[in-house]
Amino acid sequence: RRFLQTSGLMAAAVLLAACGKKEAAAPMDAASASASAPAAAVVYTVGTDAAYAPFESQNEKGEIVGFDIDVVSAAAKKAGIEVKFVNTPWEGIFNALGQGDRDLLVSAITITDERKQTMDFSSPYFDAQQLIAVKDDSKVGKFDDLKKLKVGVQTGTTGDEVVTKLIGKTSTAIKRFESTPLALKELESGGVDAVVADNGVVIHYVTNNTGAKFKTVADTSFTPEQYGIAVKKGNTELLEKINKGLADIKADGTYAQIYSKYFGAAPAAPAASN
Ligand code: ARG
Repeated sequence: RRFLQTSGLMAAAVLLAACGKKEAAAPMDAASASASAPAAAVVYTVGTDAAYAPFESQNEKGEIVGFDIDVVSAAAKKAGIEVKFVNTPWEGIFNALGQGDRDLLVSAITITDERKQTMDFSSPYFDAQQLIAVKDDSKVGKFDDLKKLKVGVQTGTTGDEVVTKLIGKTSTAIKRFESTPLALKELESGGVDAVVADNGVVIHYVTNNTGAKFKTVADTSFTPEQYGIAVKKGNTELLEKINKGLADIKADGTYAQIYSKYFGAAPAAPAASN
């Protein structure tokens, strides 16, 4: 850090400039930026669409909490970096990364070949699959049964992709929502006949909203999915830190602890390690 050779306010100014958009961890005064003090830590901004419990949601205090938050916080700690979570609507989340408004994204993001063209992903940290939610008394027994029904999805998700493939891009039978909870609310009020979304989120919603009278329908035709943490394409430095952190929390049992906090049981071996 050659900036530290300069003194006082000059160093502060240079450091701030070097940090770019990132915020200093502590308020920067002349003293903390003096030649002898360590450089102020960079805080990496993590975008997350916090309407996706149990992965990311906002609690009563407005804090962003969830499985993803715990995983990234723990991995960052191991990697020796500081992170700050910022609620970021799904709709603009990938753009925010591309434009440098976010350094990292954790948002139950499925690693797909298409997304890999515009961003880089960490090693997978969670196994997922699409799951169908319908009303208790629905006759839907498999994914194919949705062909002639009205289906709700969150815009631009892998759920949207599979349903679009089944029903057709221009079909008015697909209702796209800005969040998954909104799609599920629509199912509750009868505006759609089914919702297709990630299993963890659907199961969480159905168990916590028994009044909605939903059931879930699994289908083996859904391709297995894996979640990854995204960085801007080419940001290998940050990606390596995150991957190292992830590997460390998987190795020392922290990951398993977080997993059982949210999902009850220990993860199946492949989910945690590949
Ligand atoms: N896994 C799905 C996807 O990547 C849905 C993720 C939605 N995440 C969220 N926080 N809303 O498309």
